[in-house]
Amino acid sequence: MERDPNIRPAGEEAEKVQPHHQRRLRKIVAPDDPRVARLAHMADDEIIVRRLVDADIDAMVRNDLRAFGVASRPAGIDRRVRDHLELDRFVVAEHRGRIVGNAGAYSFELTLPGGATVPVCGVTWVAVAPTHRRRGVMRSLLAAVHLDAAARGEVASILWASEGAIYQNVGYGPLHTQPVVSLERDAVRWRSDVPSGGSVHFAEPGEARDLLPQIWERVRRLRAGGLRRSDHWWGNNLSRVENEVEGEPTRSTLIHIDEDDRPDGYAVFTSDGKWDDDLIGNVVTVELFAAETNVARADLWRVLTSLDLMRRIETDLIAPDDPLRWWLVDGRAIATTAQMEGVWLRVLDVGGLFGARTYVADDTIVVDAGELERWSIGSGGCRPSDAPADIELSPAMLGAVSLGGTSAAMLARAGRIRELTAGAARRLDSMLVVDPLPFFDTFF
Ligand SMILES: CC(C)(COP(=O)(O)OP(=O)(O)OC[C@H]1O[C@@H](n2cnc3c(N)ncnc32)[C@H](O)[C@@H]1OP(=O)(O)O)[C@@H](O)C(=O)NCCC(=O)NCCS
Repeated sequence: MERDPNIRPAGEEAEKVQPHHQRRLRKIVAPDDPRVARLAHMADDEIIVRRLVDADIDAMVRNDLRAFGVASRPAGIDRRVRDHLELDRFVVAEHRGRIVGNAGAYSFELTLPGGATVPVCGVTWVAVAPTHRRRGVMRSLLAAVHLDAAARGEVASILWASEGAIYQNVGYGPLHTQPVVSLERDAVRWRSDVPSGGSVHFAEPGEARDLLPQIWERVRRLRAGGLRRSDHWWGNNLSRVENEVEGEPTRSTLIHIDEDDRPDGYAVFTSDGKWDDDLIGNVVTVELFAAETNVARADLWRVLTSLDLMRRIETDLIAPDDPLRWWLVDGRAIATTAQMEGVWLRVLDVGGLFGARTYVADDTIVVDAGELERWSIGSGGCRPSDAPADIELSPAMLGAVSLGGTSAAMLARAGRIRELTAGAARRLDSMLVVDPLPFFDTFF
């Protein structure tokens, strides 16, 4: 298991901390206090990072909402925090008795290229008070979350970033691209040869709660990036899907049933119900989508693109290699309005992550990943190596290429990784890049 270089367990000497962090992680506070126990360390001279306790919840929620600029406190948020977050995975930063930072995690299982699944940590709720920014508080909170994740046997940490610059210097690399798309209903025309079969209906109250988790449990294994969604995650999201959360827009759920009467796909969407100057202006946003087969995928999109009184559909759930564009007479009906990086990954255990995925080409590359050390990676397995490296790259860039959704050759051209053997980046790509491409559609 990798040791996180940012963390100094209780009792260890300051000199062993990486030089970059020495100014911030000076001493351990109350190492035998059960509340702070293993995770306690200093973000700077006076800021303690420790596990969250129940009495912190109100202050943590206030800190988080303030940091994200949320105007009003959502109704029932304290109860949802208690019911749906894995609070034993949360840490807070405390300064003079006040909460000034928080971070937490979900326990996920990630599908890798080839279909194996590994435990990963899904970082969430990262916020530092504007009054305490850029003093290493987030770095220390994440170090505590990573240490806890490694102790749980999780091989990587993943997250959605609010801004593209934040996480690169704490070891995270972007795994895939995530187009945000918009479909004008009147521009959508379906080709006549697109598959179809079974039926689609609107879910009755309670039906989504029963069906969505079981459909997803099969779908998440079909593509790298699929996550096993914990009961906490489903609890949080199904209360929205079932329209039980006050102040949220109403959601509709479509279910696809195959020809053998088996549910095999769903789409959850909101509709803003607007009219522009008495003309139809309704915008539909697809928030959750899963299909086990191309028939289910096509049938669900057929219904979504033909909803009455709707002008436009918006979503970020269509992977760059999704067949939808090719099912339309004119693929330009799907306009990409923004392009994000999708999920970011930080490797915690190189052998655990790269040893569990499969490789497309029969080859081996030696990578030197800085503090994550030198590894021989490929079809023959993944193990520590002292052979001369073919590629030198940062831990963040090792994370970026790990699932095959970010090209090593492209990163070499951009100067973000260094080839020490000519052509090594292209060889690495031919080992790592898979079909279908990795894609994440679980938001957390
Ligand atoms: C993003 C946020 C958590 C950073 O907290 P912080 O305590 O100021 O971060 P740190 O001081 O530990 O920064 C660690 C490193 O992260 C990077 N970083 C942090 N904030 C950054 C920013 N806004 N832009 C670019 N890089 C940033 C830097 O590399 C920094 O190292 P450096 O200070 O040596 O340059 C905080 O600004 C915040 O709460 N923002 C609003 C909520 C939010 O966006 N949360 C993230 C959700 S995904």
